[in-house]
Amino acid sequence: MPLSSEQVQQVLSAAKAAAKHAYCPYSRFTVGAAVLAEDGKIDSGSNVENASFGLTICAERNAIFQMSARGARKIELVAIYTPTESPTAPCGACRQVINEFGPNARIISFCDGPDRIETTLDQLLPHAFGPEMDAAKS
Ligand code: THU
Repeated sequence: MPLSSEQVQQVLSAAKAAAKHAYCPYSRFTVGAAVLAEDGKIDSGSNVENASFGLTICAERNAIFQMSARGARKIELVAIYTPTESPTAPCGACRQVINEFGPNARIISFCDGPDRIETTLDQLLPHAFGPEMDAAKS
């Protein structure tokens, strides 16, 4: 069933609220993300950086791992907010993680300016490697 505009708005609001908790003292690039799972619940997260830079986790993966940690396994919608003039699409690592749980998810990036990116993984990660290709799973 298509998502209602109220549902979409709630996910966007959760992403924006999560951005308030971004821990990004090194890049100073704030990101908030939220995912709507199949069960109708919303999980959110922000980017969390580390003095050992490579250990940083993106907002999208933070939100998705929270969803997974409470047992949900299917993403319907991912929202990404940055307090910038133009929207930010998910990084490559996050695209791969979205593919694990939401290969058909809607993905919306929004910001403080008027532009939005409304997209899908077909566009962001064509020819993706996914769970169905992992021989160890079957
Ligand atoms: N970042 C995200 O949270 N999501 C993305 O998709 C792109 C990058 C974060 C990681 C780091 O804290 C900061 O943005 C700059 O790369």
